[in-house]
Amino acid sequence: MAAKLISTGLRHTTLPGNYVRPISDRPRLSEVSQLEDFPLIDLSSSDRSLLVQQTHQACARFGFFQVTNHGVSKQVIDDMVSVAHEFFSMSMEEKMKLYSDDPTRTTRLSTSFNVKKEEVNNWRDYLRLHCYPIHKYVHEWPSKPPSFKEVVSKYSREVREVGFNIEELISESLGLEKDYLKKVLGEQGQHMAVNYYPPCPEPELTYGLPAHTDPNALTILLQDSTVCGLQILIDGQWFAVNPHPNAFVINIGDQLQALSNGVYKSVWHRAVTNTENPRLSVASFLCPADCAVMSPAKSLWEAEDSETKPIYRDFTYAEYYKKFWSRNLDQEHCLENFRTDV
Ligand code: OGA
Ligand code: NI
Repeated sequence: MAAKLISTGLRHTTLPGNYVRPISDRPRLSEVSQLEDFPLIDLSSSDRSLLVQQTHQACARFGFFQVTNHGVSKQVIDDMVSVAHEFFSMSMEEKMKLYSDDPTRTTRLSTSFNVKKEEVNNWRDYLRLHCYPIHKYVHEWPSKPPSFKEVVSKYSREVREVGFNIEELISESLGLEKDYLKKVLGEQGQHMAVNYYPPCPEPELTYGLPAHTDPNALTILLQDSTVCGLQILIDGQWFAVNPHPNAFVINIGDQLQALSNGVYKSVWHRAVTNTENPRLSVASFLCPADCAVMSPAKSLWEAEDSETKPIYRDFTYAEYYKKFWSRNLDQEHCLENFRTDV
């Protein structure tokens, strides 16, 4: 179904029909709860065993957590947010030069999720970039606003380090060597989605992003500091993850669910819209190398007295990624296609 960019700069007064979800598939915003005990991990702690323990609890229970004192300065974050806002406030003519709905394009501005596959569209525009190795892609990146390349390359380099630190914590929290994930994931790719959700005339009828899990290894999300919209599914109930100043939201992607043999979950999440304010988020996705083989860590299922078996068959990330983009978002968990018992 055809869809066009919605970040026109003009307020929409009605929701076009192609965004309206059937009654059985609406956000039911009044039923969303607040999470009282959502984990917030202070990465500056010198107590490593505490950090490892907090990471384990957060990943096993929620698959999501926030981190503070992560090492990326407020200036770098503020610059990233400003340049993203500037980008989406450019003229339609300027933006359409970057428009594409072909998911194989390494740099593209698009809308909704996968417009060629979906029946109902989502109230989101997004700029997708490959960020690593940067020299391979930076020439494709937008050259407007003029500071874009400099700001985004600095931000993406620093966020990569945060991700690597967290992968070490996650490895340790599974009882594995600190560099276990680093080795298994190979030379990790890094993608960015700059998500822009304009004010929406009817937030009860549509999504910014419908429920999905992230197909990659680890996601580092920068949320707009003032506008809420991210929600996660825990025990069948939707909860809001409200922004915390200067924190990143971290979540486990499908690949870490596979490598942890399901001990950690790649949790369903979604973004909802609001009538008042545009919302911006910047998702950085760390991705295994294409040829990296995803295989549940042996020590998590091989113990002699253990009844546990690998839940997922071995696959390469390239195989998984192709499967992911061949689907629509609101289908079953993509990992279900890789189970050993089907
Ligand atoms: C994503 C995502 C959530 C948000 O880009 O994968 O889940 O709050 N974004 O924008
Ligand atoms: Ni996501």
